[in-house]
Amino acid sequence: MKYLLLLFTGLFFMASCKDVPKTDLRVINETSGGAVTSEKTHPGKELLEKECYSCHNPRAAQSEMIAPPMIAVKKHYLNDATSKDQFINLIVNWVKDPSEENSKMQGALRKFGTMPYQSFPEEMVVKIADYLYDNEIDAPDWFNGHMNMKAKGHGKGKGKGKNMQNCSGNCKGDGQCKHMGQVSVDTIEKYKKLGKKYASNAKATLGKKLVQAIVEKGPDGAVEFCNLNAIPLTDSLSIAQGIKIRRVTDKPRNPLNRASAKELVYINDFKVMVSSGETVDPILNVTEEQVDFYYPITTNAMCLQCHGVPERQITTSTLAALENLYPTDKARDYQENQVRGMWAISLNRTNLED
Ligand code: HEC
Ligand code: HEC
Repeated sequence: MKYLLLLFTGLFFMASCKDVPKTDLRVINETSGGAVTSEKTHPGKELLEKECYSCHNPRAAQSEMIAPPMIAVKKHYLNDATSKDQFINLIVNWVKDPSEENSKMQGALRKFGTMPYQSFPEEMVVKIADYLYDNEIDAPDWFNGHMNMKAKGHGKGKGKGKNMQNCSGNCKGDGQCKHMGQVSVDTIEKYKKLGKKYASNAKATLGKKLVQAIVEKGPDGAVEFCNLNAIPLTDSLSIAQGIKIRRVTDKPRNPLNRASAKELVYINDFKVMVSSGETVDPILNVTEEQVDFYYPITTNAMCLQCHGVPERQITTSTLAALENLYPTDKARDYQENQVRGMWAISLNRTNLED
């Protein structure tokens, strides 16, 4: 399937290359001396699309990706301290010698296998990298929200517009996220820690209840215990802070747990992180009043007795109990280590300042 797709996208791009007028190729030579080129006529753009997008295609459906989208590559190769020359060198070196030692994207490497060596002329890769560094790169739709306040400045303020959205609702198209500017990295780290703490407390409490109920009543009787409302938020601090904890999902068992459109984007983002073996970083959304914290909920073997394949992992009697309570249940057919949904935790910022 992979090869078929490769062939297909390869053909697609080969076909589209033919449409590139020859005059554009002249522009390449004229502008290669560092002259300012507009985004549209930058020679690196065509080359990127022709030579790299056959695999790093931002239009490929998530399930059909054969390599990480280029915007993900850019993010991994660029941080606040990376100069343009350094960035270009890194990309050139990689293309010359794509190997495990050189990789900065171990997760992608594991998921897709090492990028096959192809003999691209160095000047060409320089142009591509030059373009990548200075310009906004097309992001797949599902990638929105991937710029998840890693707060390390990935994208160097260059991952403009839509990719920055979820830092807060107030990101500007110039690539700088307004609130990011006002919130220090330390504060972000503090929020992340706090969010993680609440998420892992809730997870531990819920998990304990669930396991206990399964032991005592079997899965059929434990069905009602995977309900967040079943756990009282006993932490008085969290009550004082007006903290809200929810679990949301793209495949709800309880329709009340259905993710909003915005949340669905984050869930997809987490799916990419989890399935590619990337380190999972929480997503934060910071506004003046509030911090919204998101963190994925993944399945393990235990979950499958209620969220796995009916009749295979979910027994007939558990299935009957579920159908009785949740006639519109979508939360099935999971395997281990998949994103089942995410924690959505809201903290009131005024209560957090110390
Ligand atoms: C035949 C498919 C294919 C083509 C064409 C391709 N790549 Fe890749 N590339 C991959 C795959 C697969 C990965 C992910 C695995 C890896 O990291 O080795 C990757 C990863 C990368 C990485 C990250 C490497 C790391 O692990 O740190 C960079 C940088 C990169 N590609 C640059 C390019 C550039 C620039 C081009 C165009 C000149 C290009 N690629 C063309 C398949 C391709
Ligand atoms: C004993 C059966 C059972 C087991 C085991 C179980 N769940 Fe559930 N799960 C349910 C039920 C029932 C609901 C609906 C709860 C409600 O009404 O809020 C649910 C709801 C959820 C939700 C909220 C979203 C939704 O679909 O309504 C998440 C997230 C979730 N489960 C994750 C897990 C994970 C992760 C595991 C394993 C660690 C797990 N569950 C194990 C029965 C189970």
